[in-house]
Amino acid sequence: MVKKNACIFISGEGSNFKALYKYSKEKNFPVNIKLLVTSNIRAKGVIFAKKVGIPYLVYKNNKLSDEFKILNKIKQHKISIICLAGFMRILSSNFINVFGKKIINIHPSLLPKFKGLNTYQRILQNKEKKTGCTVHFVSKKLDGGKIILKKFFYIKGSDNKKTLKIKTQKLEHTSYSQAIIQVFNK
Ligand code: GAR
Repeated sequence: MVKKNACIFISGEGSNFKALYKYSKEKNFPVNIKLLVTSNIRAKGVIFAKKVGIPYLVYKNNKLSDEFKILNKIKQHKISIICLAGFMRILSSNFINVFGKKIINIHPSLLPKFKGLNTYQRILQNKEKKTGCTVHFVSKKLDGGKIILKKFFYIKGSDNKKTLKIKTQKLEHTSYSQAIIQVFNK
């Protein structure tokens, strides 16, 4: 199998990046991670990237000149797919158009419910019975592109923001790789 090259975009912990890295080492997983982009130089994911020898770039903002530098590196690394994994910036329409290939994102809710930020708090306030994660294509609308897959679990009366985050992220760590397999099997 000829693997495609992936670039992961992060802003924080990078637990999804680490999980994807682990899957990428499997023979039949469709992508290799060739590049990391971080909006935060102090993100824990950067320490992991250094440890495993993945080059990284810092995304300062969505000014055309900054995005142009990132797009150039992405081109050099022959990237076929960008995976946003906890990337807390909004890519410009220009970036999405110029890249012109697959960009996917993982979101900690069952989209189209609870787009945007403070997801867990809003889920609890709304007394939802279940929640989970969604992997979707990135479009110009925030958290609004075509859905690739959703996974859910039931919320317990004892759940709080912290437990919802732990349960959601556990689900994310397997769902993101499944979504990537699905994207390349079509
Ligand atoms: C993940 O739970 C992801 O769904 C969320 O950020 C977390 C990043 O965790 N993304 C968003 O909220 C995007 N709107 P990680 O850095 O440990 O992978």
